[in-house]
Parts: sequence; C-alpha cells; structure tokens
Amino acid sequence: MRISGNIDEFYREAAGEFARLSREAVIRRGHFTVALSGGTTPAGLYELLTDESEPYRAIVPWGEIHFFFGDERHVGPEDPKSNYRMAHTALLSKVPVERSSVHRIEGENPDPQEAAAKYEEAVREFFQIETGGLPSFDLILLGMGADGHTASLFPGSEAIHERERLVAAPWVEKIGAYRITLTPPVLERASCVVFLVCGEEKAETLRFVLQGDYQPERFPAQLASAAAGRTLFITDHLAARLLDMEGLREEGGER
Ligand code: 6PG
Repeated sequence: MRISGNIDEFYREAAGEFARLSREAVIRRGHFTVALSGGTTPAGLYELLTDESEPYRAIVPWGEIHFFFGDERHVGPEDPKSNYRMAHTALLSKVPVERSSVHRIEGENPDPQEAAAKYEEAVREFFQIETGGLPSFDLILLGMGADGHTASLFPGSEAIHERERLVAAPWVEKIGAYRITLTPPVLERASCVVFLVCGEEKAETLRFVLQGDYQPERFPAQLASAAAGRTLFITDHLAARLLDMEGLREEGGER
C-alpha cells in the first residue's frame, strides 16, 4: 500500500513502479508483459511515462514490452469510450513500440463473445499455453470503480465466477452494454497487480475492499487483491482517508 499526499506524487509512485517492474522483467527474461487498465485514472500515469522532461521515458525498455488490455468497452478503437484509444493517445502513440507488440481487444466486433474468444486465443498464443493453462502477466494495472468493480468485473456479474476462460464478455446491466474483460483466474495469476485508486469518491469502497470481509460478489476488486503474486495498491490521501492505518501496518502494508 502506497498512500500519496497529492496527485503528482500518486502518479510518480505509479510511474516509478512501472519503470522498475519493466526493467527487472527485461533483465530477467528479455521482455515485459503488461495488461493496461482503462478508465480515466491511468491517463495521468501514461502521460508521465512518456513525458520527455521526466526520467521515466528514458529508462523504460519500450522495445521489449508487450502491451495487452485488462478490459475493453464494446466499441471501436476510435470511440471516445475505448480503453485502447485512451492508451494509444496517452502512451502507445508516443513511445517506440512495434504495432505487433500491442495486443488490442477488438471491441468493434459486433459479436462480443467472438471478440472475447479471439482475444483469448491471442493471449494463449503469445504465452504459449493450452486449454487449462493460465498466463502470468508480469504486471496487470487495474483501477477500481466506486462500486468496487475492477477491469470489467462488476458486482453481481456472472463473469466473477468464470474459472475456465481467460476472457469473458459479460452484459453489464448497470451500463447497458457488453464489456470484454480478463477473468479472475488471469488476474489472480499475475506476478504483480497494481491498483491505481485516487479520489474522495473511492474512499468508502477502498476500505471495504482492503479491510472488509472477503465478498468478491459485491467487491470484485477483492478478486485481484487475492493474486498469487504481489498486489500493490497505489492511492492518494483522499481515497485512503477511511482506512484503518494501524490495521494496514499490522498486515505489513504492501498489498
Ligand atoms: C474501465 C476500467 C475500469 C476502471 C474503473 C475506474 O474500462 O473503465 O477498466 O475498471 O479502471 O472504472 O475508473 P476511473 O479510473 O475512471 O475511476
């Protein structure tokens, strides 16, 4: 758990972690696999990573990174709601990354189930895994909605219970649309999950997710925080303001 005093510090914490993880993975295995998060929060991180006046751009091994997505809206890549579009605008269009290193979810496919199946096939092919196997992303970046969702795993969604498929395309009643999302087994298998959570409106949910009973049906963000690897919550003081700090210290803080 890293709690930043302001939004600038919040994004620097995230950028430093991204740079460290990517360099370590490339030194160890020659490449770094990351599933990017959508929503609005990560845009500040992506922009900081590409800023030529900041230290991160020069030290991140861009040419050895494979970019995936944690989820996508059921829209095309040009749509303002597209997570790919946000990441392309804020990050991918600004750094030296081969197109073949960006593994996009085809949100434009009129059949969301087919889009999910094709993305699953692409993930299996890249990680060289057969049916039943699981990919281990070096890093999965996630956000958390004020309702406790993460990626496109929303409270009450049947996708929360998916244990076979790597990618699902649930109908999300709350938004009246399909989404395409990595499933819990994939989030749980990641070497590292980093949550980026900031803002006053997330404080109550963050307290439940981190310090409440384990009830992933209601707080799907808890699924990823049970990851096999390391889970790190990077938050600002507004989102963290209701947390029992003593309890965090007792738990060893780094979640
Ligand atoms: C999406 C994201 C979603 C997001 C949360 C938080 O497609 O919207 O995957 O899980 O991370 O909704 O969004 P904000 O960062 O905008 O608060």
